[in-house]
Amino acid sequence: METPLLILAPMDDVTDTVFRQVVQDCAPPDMTFTEFVNVDGLMSVGRARLLKKLRFVASEKNLVAQLWGLKPENFKAVAQQIADGSLARELGLPEGHNFVGVDLNMGCPAKSEVSHGACSALIENRPLAKEIIDATSEGLAGRLPLSVKTRVGFSHVDMSWIEFLLEQKLSMLIIHGRTRKEMSKVPANWDLIGEARELRDKLTVNTLIIGNGDVMSRQQAEELAAKYQLDGVMIGRGVFHDPYLFAQESPWESLAREDRLELYRKHVQLFADTWQNGERAVHTLNKFCKIYVNGFDGAKELREHLMAAESTNELLSILDESRQAQPTT
Ligand SMILES: Cc1cc2nc3c(=O)[nH]c(=O)nc-3n(C[C@H](O)[C@H](O)[C@H](O)COP(=O)(O)O)c2cc1C
Repeated sequence: METPLLILAPMDDVTDTVFRQVVQDCAPPDMTFTEFVNVDGLMSVGRARLLKKLRFVASEKNLVAQLWGLKPENFKAVAQQIADGSLARELGLPEGHNFVGVDLNMGCPAKSEVSHGACSALIENRPLAKEIIDATSEGLAGRLPLSVKTRVGFSHVDMSWIEFLLEQKLSMLIIHGRTRKEMSKVPANWDLIGEARELRDKLTVNTLIIGNGDVMSRQQAEELAAKYQLDGVMIGRGVFHDPYLFAQESPWESLAREDRLELYRKHVQLFADTWQNGERAVHTLNKFCKIYVNGFDGAKELREHLMAAESTNELLSILDESRQAQPTT
């Protein structure tokens, strides 16, 4: 078995270009994903507002664009724009820089998407799921690989859904080991992900099988990949506990207060430089604060102070002051 692919999971309002760059600089994953972006919105007057979700910079490596929506013709159009590089040019990327693939979100359990029949609701609507996959493939025309990220069923475990997806000749299938009904309430079931890999082998298709759910370290990812003979593991919330999670040996646990604050400073500065036109509210940074401002005396008080800040300038000056201040122990 080759070394498993280790992939940073898409997380809406979290894995924007800024956080992906921070994680990549700490220790690069093999692949990263954009937040999910709605193709029906992209093909409407709302396009400009949604492009921020696809934004990336030339130094980002192996970025997959994740799409969701309802209208197959819009999947096709956006896939075409991604595959021919015109979307990357629209985002300001120089020639030669593009996404490395397209992923279809068929796993998001949120009511706002499911009530419209999108994302994980497609588990219950195979005709539309197939139309969407076919339309996207047509748009890509073999120029970029296509993957699907999904769950192991809607209201109950349904391996026939996985079998159906394996029949679609996808390059990669990312399986979150929970049903939609389970949301995030029970532990991910990795035995089912292992079953999906066995099914792939039985059907003799080339689709890479990537497992996802509750992985908290690189070592755990490698153990699960070996145990279930998977091609890779996708990790989301684990980076909230260790931004260096993708490193062979993470320095995070012993990283000094100053270095943690320096890393948050870098994140805030990059955020300020990237979203200069207020595309993202400063308060979206609050969900990151606990990652960095954690594990040292006075962290809670400092977090409270930082989370009340109204601008990136204010955040940067609080961070500068507290980095200079002597820690209490
Ligand atoms: C805040 C947040 C936002 C998410 N947004 C997306 C998304 O845009 N697309 C997607 O496929 N999954 C999304 N997910 C699900 C994650 O990609 C992942 O499947 C899930 O968190 C389980 O993996 P983990 O236990 O490693 O975090 C999101 C999860 C979280 C916590």
